[in-house]
Amino acid sequence: MDYAPARFHASARKLAEQGGDFAYTPENQAKFDAVVQRYPADQRKSAILYALYLAQGQQGYLSPAAMSHVAHHIRCTAAEVEDVVSYYTMFFTKPVGKYVINVCRTLSCALLGAERVTEQLSEVLGIAPGETDPTGTFTLLEVECLGACDRGPVLMINDTDWHERLAPENVRTFVDDLRTRGVGALTGCHLHKEGGKT
Ligand code: FES
Repeated sequence: MDYAPARFHASARKLAEQGGDFAYTPENQAKFDAVVQRYPADQRKSAILYALYLAQGQQGYLSPAAMSHVAHHIRCTAAEVEDVVSYYTMFFTKPVGKYVINVCRTLSCALLGAERVTEQLSEVLGIAPGETDPTGTFTLLEVECLGACDRGPVLMINDTDWHERLAPENVRTFVDDLRTRGVGALTGCHLHKEGGKT
């Protein structure tokens, strides 16, 4: 059987897609103000991840204007904000799909077939990792360990929803179910279930 050569993560500066002007909504401004006051005045930069999550939650991704807005609020340079955005895979610099499918590719999941899962997802969705399908429904990403290594291959959908033990041969059904039933089609996280949460 032929296998594709292993792909290794390469950190790359992501050029942000232009958007219009950006400012927090009054609700998000109030949330930011409440959180930033927990930090000493000379350490406002410590609120950068929260500030970015607020901006991304509001806009769907982080445009240059959104990053400038965050930089202004936490009193650092736009370049410092860009450094953080380019480091973390959970920040997006262009619009993403309704469902962002994050496939864990770290060792345990890799040994359990994660690369085949990603290949099948690419084939079924018609996109490569890092891309969004033309309907704006799915974005496919590869990420590092999601912390459920004995239940691989593990997928995280958006920031909150979870699917475990996705076999490559079940990918097409998985995509169809996600498309028709939404996150209700997912297995969820076994730790939540064992802890009494669903
Ligand atoms: S290696 Fe995939 S969840 Fe840890």
